[in-house]
Amino acid sequence: RKDLLDISSLSREEIDLLLGQAVPFKELFTRSVKKVPALKGKSVLMLFYEPSTRTHSSFEVAAKRLSADVTNFDVPHSSVVKGESVRETIETLQAMRTDYIVVRHGRSSLPAMIAGMTKASVINAGDGAHAHPTQALLDAFTLQEVYPEGLAGRKVLVIGDILHSRVARSTSTILKRLDAQVAYLGPGSLVPKSGPENIARFTNYEEAMKWKPDVVYLLRVQMERQDVQFFPSLREYHRVYGITEERLKRIDGEGLWLMHPGPVNRGVELCDGAMDYSRSLINRQVENGIAVRMAVLYWLKPGGEES
Ligand code: CP
Repeated sequence: RKDLLDISSLSREEIDLLLGQAVPFKELFTRSVKKVPALKGKSVLMLFYEPSTRTHSSFEVAAKRLSADVTNFDVPHSSVVKGESVRETIETLQAMRTDYIVVRHGRSSLPAMIAGMTKASVINAGDGAHAHPTQALLDAFTLQEVYPEGLAGRKVLVIGDILHSRVARSTSTILKRLDAQVAYLGPGSLVPKSGPENIARFTNYEEAMKWKPDVVYLLRVQMERQDVQFFPSLREYHRVYGITEERLKRIDGEGLWLMHPGPVNRGVELCDGAMDYSRSLINRQVENGIAVRMAVLYWLKPGGEES
């Protein structure tokens, strides 16, 4: 396979293969092996039109641990600010014969457009509200660590603005593919009425907790997206949908796992106490992002190489 653009295009076998490949890559870190020569001589171009800490830095670390050369395309200091289009930018960058392009952009399906223009392997690092496939893979990997017997029948409650969230879309797709049960909880206007079958939809926290989730997955409130109208205020959002100190005590009592893709808006999705919650997987999600992204880079075959 040349590109990774979304989760829905992956088969169950491909998902299992990627998650399986991430295991030995993670074991390397625990044995303090900093680098393997797997991608020696290959080049990775990081093309981020939107801000990122976790995805950007973990892709960079992953590529370097595989001995690839990494170039960061500095969008704010590039000719993009002079009005150069994505098409022109890619045509220019193609001359550098990069093997992989890791791209984040606010426009859905832009990575797919780039993939059609280049022989490089294109990896979608988040495109608009469409997809964030490596986030989904690291989420699934993290849950498989806490449930080594598999995710079949495990219940994951995803809370927040489902409608505008690429994380919700990709992570719920992979969880369903791994036979987990998924439910959505959020304000009625931000929970899609249609979409994947067999996903329970709640607008009331108490009702959602009666569904008996094993995992509570908080989505980030995307304050930078001006088109998203938040629920009368952030304080009110926290009261109705956030993990308050009181709710934290309850999920602790019931032994639920807590996840969030980051960055966390403290006092909005999560109270301060949730950052130190013993069953929080948030830091582990970040750590696992490196191994999973190593597996993705290792698996893809740029330039139509045989898989
Ligand atoms: N989860 C995630 O995509 O975080 P960043 O925006 O920091 O990459």
